[in-house]
Amino acid sequence: MEEIKVLINKAKLEKRVEELAKQIEKDYKGKDIVFIGVLKGCTMFFIDLAKRISNDVAFEFVEISSYEGTESTGRISLNKDITESIKGKDVIIIEDIIDTGRTLQYLVELLKSKNPNSLRIATLLSKPSRRVIDLNVDYIGFQIDDIFVVGYGLDYNQKYRNLPYIGYIES
Ligand code: IMP
Ligand code: MG
Repeated sequence: MEEIKVLINKAKLEKRVEELAKQIEKDYKGKDIVFIGVLKGCTMFFIDLAKRISNDVAFEFVEISSYEGTESTGRISLNKDITESIKGKDVIIIEDIIDTGRTLQYLVELLKSKNPNSLRIATLLSKPSRRVIDLNVDYIGFQIDDIFVVGYGLDYNQKYRNLPYIGYIES
C-alpha cells in the first residue's frame, strides 16, 4: 500500500468550505439553487457545501468519463444525465478538481443547452498550470500545484475517496 501524505488537512478543508458556502449564500440571496455534482469525486465537497447553505438547494448529479487518448483528443462521454429540468433555474456545477478543464467544458456546453437562468462553477481544487481550456470558474477552494491528489472524494484507481483530508501519494 502506498503512503499518503497530507496536503490539506480536515480543519483547513472545513474552514474553506464554510467560506465558500457563505460566499454562495451572499451571491444567491433569496434564490433557490440547483447543485449539479460531477460523480464520484464531488461527493464529499457537495454534501459539506450544501449543508452549510441556508438557501433551498436541489440535488442533481452527472457522471462523465474521459478516455485518455492523446492530449488533444481526450474523448468525453456522459454516463449519467440530470433527471429534472433546469430551465430557468440557477445552477452551480460542483466539481472536485479542475485539471485540463476538458470535462467542465463539455459539461458547461451540455447544461447551457438546457437553458438554465444562470450557470456557475464551484470546484474544491484547481491545478491552473495544467489548464488547456479557458474556463471562468466562480468558486475555487484551493489552487494546487501539478501533483496527483487523493481523498475527500478524489480517488486513485477508486481508492482513497473516503479519506477525510486531501493527500498525495509519496513515491
Ligand atoms: P479535466 O477534464 O482534465 O479537467 O479532468 C478533471 C477530472 O480528472 C477530475 O474531475 C478528476 O476526476 C480527474 N483528476 C484530475 N486530477 C486529479 C488528481 O490529482 N486526483 C484525482 N483525480 C484527478
Ligand atoms: Mg471528477
